[in-house]
Amino acid sequence: VQARGIHHLGVAVEDLDEAVTTYEQLFGARVEHRETVPDQGVEAASLKVGAGRVELLASLGEETPVGKFLSKRGPGMHHVAYEVDDVRAAIEELSAKGVELVDEQPRRGLFGLEVAFLHPDAVHGVLAELVTDA
Ligand code: CO
Repeated sequence: VQARGIHHLGVAVEDLDEAVTTYEQLFGARVEHRETVPDQGVEAASLKVGAGRVELLASLGEETPVGKFLSKRGPGMHHVAYEVDDVRAAIEELSAKGVELVDEQPRRGLFGLEVAFLHPDAVHGVLAELVTDA
């Protein structure tokens, strides 16, 4: 798969408001989107930092994916999202190569984007997201 570039870095945080303020004050970040997604157990903010982007993720409970991550690892880097032309074509290509995927089909991710995740074991310990952002 030829990625266009890194679309965003995903960071797990304990307190979303506090984290947004930190990124605004330290790096001049601007909030691009913010949403709560109960069925994914997450409250998220997408921040533009110059030409780059950081996605801050706070959990809505301990049993959610981000909640479990925070319990086990504490706040910090959660995933790297790679922008691709076509998520479905990308996961089909990776699946054919035997790459371990979390999502065998594209799904609706945060902020309405089409995404799919690769298992961290396939990417040297870092959860990877594929995203199409037209
Ligand atoms: Co993401």
